[in-house]
Amino acid sequence: MDSILILDFGGQTTQLIGRRIRDFGVYSEIAPGDASLRDVLHDDIKGIILSGSPHSSWREDSPAPDEALWECGLPVLGICYGFHQLTIMNGGEVKPLPHREYGRSLVRRHIGGNPLFSDIPDEFLSWMSHGDSVAALGRDFDSIAESENGVCSAAAHNNLPVWGVQFHPEASHCEYGNSLLENFACGICGARKEWTLEGYIDQESSALREKVGKRNVLLLISGGVDSTVAAALLLKALPHRQVWLMYVDTGMMRKGETEEVSEHLHRLGAENLLIIDAEERFLKPLSGVTDPEEKRKIIGDVFMKVQQEEIGKHIPDGYLLAQGTLYTDLIESGKGVGNQAQVIKSHHNVGTPLVQAKREAGDLVEPLERLYKDEVRRLGTLLGLPADIVGRHPFPGPGLGIRILSDVTKAKLDILRKADAIYLQELRERNLYDEIWQAFSVLLPVRSVGVTGDAREYGYVLALRAVVSRDGMTADVYDFPTRDLLEISSRITNEVREVGRVVYDISSKPPATIEWE
Ligand code: XMP
Repeated sequence: MDSILILDFGGQTTQLIGRRIRDFGVYSEIAPGDASLRDVLHDDIKGIILSGSPHSSWREDSPAPDEALWECGLPVLGICYGFHQLTIMNGGEVKPLPHREYGRSLVRRHIGGNPLFSDIPDEFLSWMSHGDSVAALGRDFDSIAESENGVCSAAAHNNLPVWGVQFHPEASHCEYGNSLLENFACGICGARKEWTLEGYIDQESSALREKVGKRNVLLLISGGVDSTVAAALLLKALPHRQVWLMYVDTGMMRKGETEEVSEHLHRLGAENLLIIDAEERFLKPLSGVTDPEEKRKIIGDVFMKVQQEEIGKHIPDGYLLAQGTLYTDLIESGKGVGNQAQVIKSHHNVGTPLVQAKREAGDLVEPLERLYKDEVRRLGTLLGLPADIVGRHPFPGPGLGIRILSDVTKAKLDILRKADAIYLQELRERNLYDEIWQAFSVLLPVRSVGVTGDAREYGYVLALRAVVSRDGMTADVYDFPTRDLLEISSRITNEVREVGRVVYDISSKPPATIEWE
């Protein structure tokens, strides 16, 4: 399948470049910016894009692309930092600007007829985010566009298929950004639009059948979108009796979650679905523990222990392990690609001992590993999962355990579960759920006074959280219509006796985090 290779220098929008290209049907892949081209090029790659970066290209230690770029014969497009690198490699000069160019900026083209700008007007609003700029072009480059501040915004090499742009065509605010990327990928590189999710299902299904053969595959289900879609794909690709699904109910799940998960998986034809009721095994060691990190550690350790015990009891040896790792999980963990990323999260999918052992034995299958989150949601729909499953908000591994800001008890979990279910149900009924990236309730360790009838009562304080975000790394508070908040709050205090007061968390991330602990 034709593909565009993105060399990642750690820019915040590298993944967006990849997604935009897939959106018009061309496959894209990401490799570390300074990778040796010999290691990452293959016959299907039709062109290369160099991403942006938090680094400054004029610094000695800044990551640079392989010099072989100039001899590989493929078209190259440098974006922002990528453009700076192309400039410096050709004897040009990049300097810090006295004032950063950030946000919308008018770009004017002064040379027409360039295939990169085919069908794009001579003037358009681009999206800029840079503190450095090209002060002197590299050898054999001609400037083709300037920003309203007189900064060189696009340049083309005059005898190689190499371009640089200062702005970010991948940003949704950049006018004609998609057209520019499509001009590059399809018009210039000649990549064919061969990427479809239907095609992905077929390819992955036959790859799975070949790898799995007659063995069993075990997938640990969390109730989240990724593992549910991975389960649906396994059930589509393999005989149902070979697919083992295990779901551990930690006692810290949301209301009705376990029943919902099991119902949907049965509907997809799951035959070997193990629902493990482990509430006691989790709540006992958590008793009296208030430190959030200690809670997380206990939950993580018990999780692994329960898994091990239950796998030993139920699953015949020699099984393969499947997991719903996404392309972005690999990028963020720095394991697969993009090792220049400034923010590197260690993702739980990538590193448990069971996963490592299976990986080393070649017995790990990750059928979603080439997909972005939005593609996983669309894949889920194609595989027959209902909208309320594929559109679910993220839910942390430690579950409600980190949403009770004190020691975790069954009584508190029941209160939180009840209140949170009302909150989420109200959001769905008001058509707000899909506008919000993540919404949940937090039970605070304070009691405040209230009046019920003639009596004064001390009730719990419940905090509601709702954020909008792209990937959870940064988040803005959801701008709730006040009436909705008032009505939701009053329903919670009416129906959950133990909650005496409801507050709304209005902190963005940063400086706050999305969860409270
Ligand atoms: P924070 O609170 O770090 O959350 O802003 C960012 C995203 O990560 C989720 N989160 C977790 N997920 N285990 C998980 O699997 C955890 O310990 C954990 N802590 C936070 C959080 O729900 C949000 O989506």
